[in-house]
This record gives sequence, structure tokens and C-alpha cells, in this order.
Amino acid sequence: MPITAVVGLQWGDEGKGKIVDVLAEEYDVCVRYNGGANAGHTVVIDGEKFIFHLLPTGVLRETVTALIGNGVVLDPEQFFSEVEQLKRAGVDVSGRLFISPRAHIVLPYHKMLDSIYENAVELSIGTTRRGIGPAYADRASRCGLRVADLYDEKTLRKLLRRSLIEKTPVFERYGLQTETEEKMSEWLKEMARRLQPFIGDVSEILRDALNDGRKILFEGAQGTLLDVDFGTYPYVTSSSTGVWSIAVGVGVNICSFNRVYGVLKAYTTRVGEGPFPTEERSEIGEMLRRSGGEFGATTARPRRCGWLDLVAAEYAVSLNGVDALILTKLDVLSGVNPLRVAIAYEIDGRRVKSFPPSAGELEKVKVIWEELEGWEEKIEDIRSFSGLPEAAQNYVRFIEERLKLGVSMVSVGGEREAVIRV
Ligand code: IMP
Repeated sequence: MPITAVVGLQWGDEGKGKIVDVLAEEYDVCVRYNGGANAGHTVVIDGEKFIFHLLPTGVLRETVTALIGNGVVLDPEQFFSEVEQLKRAGVDVSGRLFISPRAHIVLPYHKMLDSIYENAVELSIGTTRRGIGPAYADRASRCGLRVADLYDEKTLRKLLRRSLIEKTPVFERYGLQTETEEKMSEWLKEMARRLQPFIGDVSEILRDALNDGRKILFEGAQGTLLDVDFGTYPYVTSSSTGVWSIAVGVGVNICSFNRVYGVLKAYTTRVGEGPFPTEERSEIGEMLRRSGGEFGATTARPRRCGWLDLVAAEYAVSLNGVDALILTKLDVLSGVNPLRVAIAYEIDGRRVKSFPPSAGELEKVKVIWEELEGWEEKIEDIRSFSGLPEAAQNYVRFIEERLKLGVSMVSVGGEREAVIRV
């Protein structure tokens, strides 16, 4: 499919990294368009684990051009450490990894502010403390620094001064060392020097690629339920995570895709605070966490675990216009019997027609469950749909029926090869 998008249908951590790595084999260009180093895309190749927070996962394929769009907030130090990680693994990125000059930079003080807000105010979101919210806030307040501004001394100084007007008193109030303008300038000069070889006009590169009929894969970070508009606000990230944000996140007029893959984990997880109607605080939740290795790839925090929620998934499917599902981590459900799936919500005794827009309403949800038979067998080594235990096949078919969409791939393990094409 020439233009394809991969988006998460839950609260992130659906296993998009591995899926993008598998799909990237057939693509020429792989693009990140939102989020920043809050993402944690894990790929395992021949037992070696790569965790990307910023780089498009497709960069692992040496034939792929990897792009970071203007919609991403770029933490330069994280960027360099991922490039180093690749170099150590013998993966050459020279001449095929580019950052948009319009991408905003996450500055050290954005991370400090992220922590201050998390520690100090009543409403803790449970962020990754990677400075994402403060960096996007500066973008909207027009005092953020973009990659291009690093090379324009006059504008850079003005932006920094404007940005520090409101921040210096906050740092002083919390007894943190104030980041002085001069100190920032030194850091920025160093980053400017090191970023230079990676800067490229992402929208132009993409336009050319489209004109040449090259295959393009857009890699969403986080999940639809963390979207700043359509997620469980305020317990969301600060960027738009769905396909609707691709055009604005890369600067190309792409309004339709040949294929939108919605990635759905076979159960649900969430990191940080916020409503989670199908959460299991029991031994089952613990078991899912243990067997699914459900610890944050960015912060190592234990993820909250629970059952698959098809009400939330249906909402995410319709928002993104998903045309095929990819189901991940089905292997983790081996030995869980029976299985439960949320098929409807009730609030105050009434059936809910659409996904509630308010976190308070979501906290009140009573879930209507469907119980399905589980399976005992290990399925990591199975590579055909018909080879799956009947109960596992039924679980997949049940999801397809409820969401009125086909599952085109099932992932049954961390390794690249552990997929079943359906
Ligand atoms: P932030 O994006 O660091 O501001 O965090 C906001 C919320 O999004 C927190 O609940 C985080 O745990 C969550 N979050 C951000 N990025 C990811 C991700 O890649 N996977 C899962 N949760 C995430």
C-alpha cells in the first residue's frame, strides 16, 4: 500500500514499534509525526532489543529513509543517544535520517517544568517527565525554539528571553537552579552543531517521495485514547495522536491513506493516571503484567493492566477510519481462562451510546462484559491462523465481528518473526 498509517487504538504501548518494524520491510520512507521521547517503541531482532523513543522504528531497515516531522518535539540528546545505539549495532543512518527544521526542541527546562507540575499541583497526570507538555505549550505560546531557530542567533535570543519571562520565577519558587540565558545558549550552540547533518526539509522530501510513487509509512506514537483532543482529557499527552494529525505533523497535504492499520493489544494497559474502565487490580492484572512484561519502555513504571475494551476500541477505530486491525500480544493470554471483554458501558443505569468525553463520566462506567473461553497452549511458535487453538481463533473472530473489521496480522511474541498473517 503506497501510503499507510499505523496508529494505536488504546492508551499507547500496543506494540506499534514491532509492527512498524515488520511492515517497514515493504516501505521506502518511515515517518514520525507526533509526540517526542515519551514514546517507547520496542523491537527485538535476533534477541537484541532496540527501544526507540524518538527515531522512526523503520530506521532499522537500511533501505528506509527515516523522517521526523515538524509535529514531533525533539529532545536532541535523546536523538543522539539513539543514533549512537544504532551505530554500535552497525546500522548506518547517514544520508537517510532527517529532522524537520520546523520541529520544536525539548529544552532541559521543559523537563524540569514537567516534574514541577507533576509534583506540585493537585492534578498529577503521571507524565513521562520528558518535557512533552511544556514543550508543546511553548509552541502554542510562540516562545518555543525550533530546529531552524538554532541557526538564527537574533531570533533565538528573543525567543529564549520571552520563554524565560514566565519560567524564571517558577524555578526560583521551587528552589531550582535558574537556567540562565547564557548557559542555555552554550547548550544550544552545541546541539546546533551536532544536529546540522540531520536537518532536511521533511515536507519537501515527502512531496518528492509521493511524486515518485515511493511507499510511505506513517508511524503514530502513543495511542488514540491519549490524544489531546479525543483522549481521556486531562489524562492525555500533549499532541494529537490520530491519523488526522499527520498532515499537520509533516507538512504534506495528505487527507486520505491507502491503508490505516489500527493496532490493538489483545488486552488493555495504561501508564500514568486516568480512567480505565476494564482495569483488573486483581491477580489477573498482575499476571498480565508479568507475562506481558508490562513495564514502561520509557519510565520502567509498572503498567496498569486489564481486559480488552471494545467500546473504547470502536471509538478509536471510527475516529481514525481504520481499515484493518493488527492484534498484538495474543500469546500473553495463554492460560487466562475465561477471558473477559468489555462490549458496552452503562452510566447511572443507562447504556452509553458513545465514548464519554469526560474523565469523571468514565470513572463512573459500569462495564457490560462478554465472557469467552480461553486457551492453555503456548502460541509463540505458531505462524498460521489455523494453527492457533480454536479458542484463540474465536477470540480474534469475536473482535472482528464486534469491530466490523478484519484482523490482518496477529503478533504472538516480541521477535520480528513472531507474526501470523491472516
Ligand atoms: P506525557 O506524554 O509524558 O506528557 O505523559 C502524558 C500521559 O501519556 C501519561 O499518562 C503517560 O504515561 C502517557 N504516555 C505518554 N507517552 C506514552 C507512550 O508512548 N505509551 C504509553 N503511555 C504514554
